[in-house]
Amino acid sequence: MLLLAIESSCDETAVAILAGEPGQPATVLASEIASQIELHRVYGGVVPEIASRNHSLHLRPLVEQALTHAGATMAQIDVFAATSGPGLASSLLIGATAAKAMAAAARKPFLAVNHLEGHLLSPFVETGVVPPHLALIVSGGHTLLLDVESPGNYRKLGGTRDDAAGEAFDKVAKMLGLPYPGGPEIERAAATGNKEAFTFPRSMMKEPGFDFSFSGLKTAVLYTLSQRNPESGTPLREDLADLCASFQEAVIDVLVTKTLRAARHAGRKTIALSGGVSLNKTLRSAFEEACRREGITLATATPGLCTDNAAMIAFAALLHAFEGKTSPLDADIDPNLRL
Ligand code: KG4
Ligand code: ZN
Repeated sequence: MLLLAIESSCDETAVAILAGEPGQPATVLASEIASQIELHRVYGGVVPEIASRNHSLHLRPLVEQALTHAGATMAQIDVFAATSGPGLASSLLIGATAAKAMAAAARKPFLAVNHLEGHLLSPFVETGVVPPHLALIVSGGHTLLLDVESPGNYRKLGGTRDDAAGEAFDKVAKMLGLPYPGGPEIERAAATGNKEAFTFPRSMMKEPGFDFSFSGLKTAVLYTLSQRNPESGTPLREDLADLCASFQEAVIDVLVTKTLRAARHAGRKTIALSGGVSLNKTLRSAFEEACRREGITLATATPGLCTDNAAMIAFAALLHAFEGKTSPLDADIDPNLRL
């Protein structure tokens, strides 16, 4: 089966073509991305109007590029899929409308995909098989712990009560005068810092349950900045690396502790990490170490599949297509879609 998927929920326009058969590793024949990061960087975050305009601009050339890279023609595509939520309404509309139009023109099925399911399943694209596991999705918009029995069979155990983990990285980076997106910037600066230089709170780590809260940590960084440099509240040059390392450690500590606890609670022997924050190498090492100690298998997505991409949307769609599912052409987008 050949499937073409579009992802346009936020600021990346992406198109992928996947070939797959049930129970087999999926083959990513093309995974194209037109990144808008540079356009939004000057504003310190994503501007919805700019995002949707650029999705319209890039989508058609990206579809053609994907077909060329895959060595396929439009007529060979069996299913068309697109992210239908959650995300920015004006961005979601562009990709979903384009995929529906292509499906209608080619008289082939359309499949609406939940962006979070795309992230969730991304560590399993290479194997094609999704084992029962405990999933942690850590992205710019979400921090979610889910018990996964099988694809489509998800039980939410916990989520963030305020900022998502990636959002905390982005907001703290902004306070520190680092560019957007903040995650990779903080990771880079943290590499030469001392993670014990500052003691930041591990909110809700000791409380029962599996929810997260990162806004207190953000406030603690702000407070430290104003204490260290009362005149301007900007970071002292000699503090930057230590602040980044200490902040990063606080986020990782909470994520690892709660995820391992959730895995024990659910009796799962596999943990899968997905979403942009899972690119963080210090976070990956901390999870590897903790999982090794507890005899748990760690599944992570390959780097190109961690941040927003269309291959993960295509893979989620493929699993639905194998079950014979389709979505109606009048299926609406939903900016607040849940798993
Ligand atoms: O999954 P993603 O591309 O988009 C959403 O669906 O939100 O995640 C983007 C988020 C941003 O907040 C970015 O700062 C964060 O992932 N991120 C990182 C790293 N690379 C990206 N956070 C920490 N360390 C990184 N290396
Ligand atoms: Zn995402």
